[in-house]
Amino acid sequence: METILYPTGTGAERSAAVRAAARLLRAGELVAIPTETVYGLAANALDPAAVETIFRVKGRPNDNPLIVHIADLPALDDVVREVPESARKLAERFWPGPLTMILPRDPRIPDATTAGLDTVAVRMPSHPVARAIIRASGLPIAAPSANLSGLPSPTTAAHCMRDLSGKVPAVVDGGACEFGVESTVITLAGETPRLLRPGAVTLEQLRETLGEVEVDPAVTGRLAEGQAAASPGMKYKHYSPKAEVTLVRGSAAAFRAYVNALPGEGIYAMVFSGEGEGLAKPFFEYGAEGDHLTQARELFLLLRQLDDLGARAVYVRTPATDGVGLAVYNRLIRAAAFHFVELGGPAGREDTNE
Ligand code: TXA
Ligand code: MG
Repeated sequence: METILYPTGTGAERSAAVRAAARLLRAGELVAIPTETVYGLAANALDPAAVETIFRVKGRPNDNPLIVHIADLPALDDVVREVPESARKLAERFWPGPLTMILPRDPRIPDATTAGLDTVAVRMPSHPVARAIIRASGLPIAAPSANLSGLPSPTTAAHCMRDLSGKVPAVVDGGACEFGVESTVITLAGETPRLLRPGAVTLEQLRETLGEVEVDPAVTGRLAEGQAAASPGMKYKHYSPKAEVTLVRGSAAAFRAYVNALPGEGIYAMVFSGEGEGLAKPFFEYGAEGDHLTQARELFLLLRQLDDLGARAVYVRTPATDGVGLAVYNRLIRAAAFHFVELGGPAGREDTNE
């Protein structure tokens, strides 16, 4: 596998990197590319064979549809049947950027890309390398996160290599991702706009723009057995490191007492900045308690780092769910397979939120 370095140097070197990636995409090959959210595993969204290769390489269930990435607004008309007023408003405010909209699909988009759904997910990324590659390819680009299915999404080229080495021809290295969690997904295909996956574009911002926005129950909860998922990706185990993740609710002091008393080796803590003092276990800080942007950027990096360290278990301070915190919380509850410890009461109560 080749790493195509996107140099910080001259324009000529940059355009050579972009051309190399675009050439591979036009030839039906897969290329891992940087975006402002996470790295994506890109292919021609119009080519069913290329798209099927994405599913095979990731080990992704084929009922889980892909996001189609475009470089500019005129391209939207080529992938969707109609653009409602709500989509125009969101595009104007948040594109290019970390927002995906679900809209009625144009028949040009093959079943392989949308998993046979009548809708298609569309996003216009803001990362300059992603935009340049999409534009140079002249194609709508299907790209799920570039991890193997179930693992945390890659936020660096090195993490892409770890998952995809020998399986795809190239990774374009555009540095570490700005946001570190996947885009916000909103469906505009129903009566009322509905948030399916929280991201760096917040629920509060969506409501400012559109008025009423529903929140899919899968955003903060677990789907019951047999319950249909509005966003098929929500039903799968996700973002999971090998280490067992547990979310702990309660004060910093209660957390410290609880974690310090846990027996055994290989136990790590993930805490907010400045909370490490007095912890008897090795710990990582993942941003200040109110700094959800830093938490989001650190999250997948740390989950992967814990695996590198051979961590057996990690206990995590639970973030608040306002703003980008909802995205951090949404990824963590899946990484933790919904396992919580509540330290609310005087004695401390252990609980699984199932
Ligand atoms: O930030 C991102 O969105 C990244 C970068 C690479 O752009 N991509 C990404 O793709 O996260 P992926 O495939 O890992 O997540 C796409 C999510 C899944 O949960 C999928 O089920 C949902 O979007 N989705 C895609 N098409 C859909 C549709 N037509 N209806 C409902 N949900 C859909
Ligand atoms: Mg993914």
